[in-house]
Amino acid sequence: MSESPENNQQRRTFLGILLGGVAVILAGAFAWPIFRFLSPLEGGGEGSQVRVSKEQVKVGGAHFFDFQGRPAVLLQPSAGNFIALSAVCTHLGCIVKWVDDKGEFLCPCHGGRFSTEGTVLGGPPPKALETYIVNVEDTDLMVG
Ligand code: FES
Repeated sequence: MSESPENNQQRRTFLGILLGGVAVILAGAFAWPIFRFLSPLEGGGEGSQVRVSKEQVKVGGAHFFDFQGRPAVLLQPSAGNFIALSAVCTHLGCIVKWVDDKGEFLCPCHGGRFSTEGTVLGGPPPKALETYIVNVEDTDLMVG
């Protein structure tokens, strides 16, 4: 039993549409991460500040929070001395952890170490953690 030329044409049309749909889905899957990478950060922008209660930042401790859509951390190395840093490692972008008993940051990915000021103490990070401006306002800290 042979198929008519009309059936062959319909099959070709159907396969063309199916392959076109798959190509569109694959193109979207590749383009979406690139689009997200190039898009501005959510909640960001010049002048945006974050308010954090001073009580959340203990002397000698670290308080992690979101700043302009990225992880950040506030420290109080000594009473009344506040430091705000990006918590994003400058090597490959992992999130640093606070090591309380050592009083420093450790990157869990490749062992990068940072001081309370964000300077590199060891490991592969090429530069210090980004620092942010901190202003004390009564019982709160304004970052940014
Ligand atoms: S990403 Fe932090 S040390 Fe590699």
